[in-house]
Amino acid sequence: MAETQPDPASGGSRTLACGIRPIVAADRDAVLGLVWHHLLDELGEPNHGDPDLLNLDREIARAVAGDDDIAFFVAAIGDRVVGAGGVALSFMTVGTAELGWLVIDPDYRVKGLGAALLVRRERWAIERHAELMLLSAGQPEFHERYGYSIVVRSANEAVMAKSLKRPGG
Ligand SMILES: CC(C)(COP(=O)(O)OP(=O)(O)OC[C@H]1O[C@@H](n2cnc3c(N)ncnc32)[C@H](O)[C@@H]1OP(=O)(O)O)[C@@H](O)C(=O)NCCC(=O)NCCS
Repeated sequence: MAETQPDPASGGSRTLACGIRPIVAADRDAVLGLVWHHLLDELGEPNHGDPDLLNLDREIARAVAGDDDIAFFVAAIGDRVVGAGGVALSFMTVGTAELGWLVIDPDYRVKGLGAALLVRRERWAIERHAELMLLSAGQPEFHERYGYSIVVRSANEAVMAKSLKRPGG
């Protein structure tokens, strides 16, 4: 996907090309950095963040190695990774996929990149015949805009679901 987005670094006066693409090994540190910043600086969860980052690192390694059941996509402006999101087929339930790790660089939010990463990951799951998408959402309001409904809500998160079946399909 190629998009033209306003460039926040230039006050929006210039445009830049932003692409959504599968992750490659060289993106690892940038993606870990985006998630680390979100967990530590935005959520203030240094202890909780360690196991999360270990899991993330393992999942990135699987995606980079070509594991068919998992993928990561990044939003990149030139060489700079400004967003990322993961998706995996559920190992417990056939036809179900799960979203995870959606994060956009704070300087590049509200420019459509989160939505673009969401749509790209849904497409990946549909191509693999998933009929239901699940996620544990820290920001359920964002996903509600795209058809996700809350199934269970806890203090910090909401488990959300969306049917990927097309009407009449
Ligand atoms: C949530 C997040 C991924 C959104 O990414 P983004 O690139 O800023 O979102 P987009 O620009 O694609 O937004 C698309 C639409 O959703 C809206 N939106 C963005 N963030 C939203 C939020 N937190 N709640 C409700 N609506 C939101 C935008 O205003 C936009 O609306 P529009 O189509 O009417 O213009 C981003 O804020 C982020 O990285 N947050 C920190 C990490 C996080 O919370 N991840 C999600 C865990 S579930």
